[in-house]
This record gives sequence, structure tokens and C-alpha cells, in this order.
Amino acid sequence: MSVDLQNLAVLKPEQPICIFDSGIGGLTVVRKLRELLPNEELIYFGDTARVPYGTKSQLTVRRYAAEDTRLLLKYQPKMIIVACNTVSATALDVVEHESQGKPVLGVLKAGSALAAKETRCGHIGVIGTNATIASNAYSLEIYTIDPSLEVYSKACPLFVPLAEEGYINHEASKLIAQDYLLELMAHNIDTLVLGCTHYPILKAMLSEVVGESIKIIDSAEAVAMEVQRVLSEQSLLCQEVHNFPPKVLVSDLPQKFRTKFELFLGIELPEVELVEV
Ligand code: DGL
Repeated sequence: MSVDLQNLAVLKPEQPICIFDSGIGGLTVVRKLRELLPNEELIYFGDTARVPYGTKSQLTVRRYAAEDTRLLLKYQPKMIIVACNTVSATALDVVEHESQGKPVLGVLKAGSALAAKETRCGHIGVIGTNATIASNAYSLEIYTIDPSLEVYSKACPLFVPLAEEGYINHEASKLIAQDYLLELMAHNIDTLVLGCTHYPILKAMLSEVVGESIKIIDSAEAVAMEVQRVLSEQSLLCQEVHNFPPKVLVSDLPQKFRTKFELFLGIELPEVELVEV
């Protein structure tokens, strides 16, 4: 995490936390943050006009990441959370560079740290988009934490549209999951990292496919716990109780957006504002 101490001194607990993702998948992070930190004002930006990021080149994702960060700075956040695994894997340094010294947290580091802590046998599976897996960023982060750990990765691109379509417990999703995960299971993993914003929606089905003995790491939950730790350490937790609904910004209104938003956020859709990146 990059923190400019001089800048930190001027941050106030009442300022909002800004979260962004390529689309609506990052609402799984908002959902976990609301559960853990109900007092915080949350502003979420979903770049729904340019989703998916996971199939794009690093160059494009890095440009988008810079633009998304600049947009969120207008809301004077006390912290920026990169909910998108693809951005966390390929462009976290860009967000840190653009963030004007505000603390930046990404799902990838939080998920990796939790996986390294939880594994017993040292064999960790990671699933994500093509871009995230091709970047090797999860493997590198986990090896940096503990070089004795073995990481096995698999891109599971079809999980994104399946989650968006609400194919949560569908037979077709189970068959695809069995096929994708076979290779990882052959390495006797005991921990599986959900390295994509959309995958927590499929968590119960994935757990059924891999079996109860494999611990599933939800990066959304991991980053929410890390946010709580960092804000508390910096005395930046909001103490006033307001339970604000999150403010949702989007760059386009996707088809069937209400149903999709509610699926990912778990509550009735709050106010949505259309913005230009
Ligand atoms: N948000 C992306 C991620 O977590 C998934 C969707 C996309 O490809 O943009 O990697």
C-alpha cells in the first residue's frame, strides 16, 4: 500500500471511501464493506461502458485505471479501493501514482495474504480473468509472502458472464466449473482464491464443486478486513453512525441493470449517477 504520511495527516474520518471496478462485480466488495464498516460513506464507480477489463491489453487497462482514479479524486476520498482484480494485478502502481498520496488498497494483496495465512499444505489455487492470470501477479505476490508456497492458476473467463446472467446454481455453471477446476484439484490444493470480483456470487456452487476440504478465499472479504485494519491504525474510521446507502456511479446503464446491481450488492438499488470518464 502506498501512503503519503504528510497527506494522511490531513485526511478526516468523515471523508468517503471510494471503490472502483470495471463494472458491477466490485459491488461484492461494497457489500462486504457495508457489513464490516456500516458507518462509512461509500462511493462506488463501475466503468460499465468499458467493461470487461479482463480481456483487454495491459496498456488499455492501465489507461482506464488512471482515468478511473482521477474521476474518484473529485469526491475527496480518504482511501481508494481497487475492487477489480484485473486492475489490481496489472495497474495498481498507476492508481497509486494518480492517487495524490491517498491510501490505496487492492483486492489482490489482501486475497494473497489471507490465502498464504490459511493454507495448511502450501498448495494454493488461484482463479481469475485471462488478464489477471496472464499477469502472474497473484503467484508473485504469494511467493513474495512465502517462497515455499506452490501456486497453481487457472483463467476462468466464462464465470463472469455466468455470474452476470445469474446462473448461480445452474447445471451448466457446475459443468463448466468442474472442467475449469479439474486441473487445479489435481495439484491437491487446499485453498482456492477467487481472484475476480464476480466469483463471490458463485461461491456456494464453487464450494460444492471443489468440496468442503478446500478453503475458499473471497478477495472481497479479505480487502474489507484490510480496510478496517488500515483505517483503524490511522485513526480514520468514521465514528458517527449514519448507515448511508452507497452512492453508485456508472459510465453506462447496462441492460437489466437493476436486477444485476441487486444481485451483486444484496440490497435494493440505491441512487445511480451516470458519469463520464
Ligand atoms: N472486475 C474484473 C476482475 O475482477 C472482472 C470483469 C472484467 O473482466 O472486467 O478481474
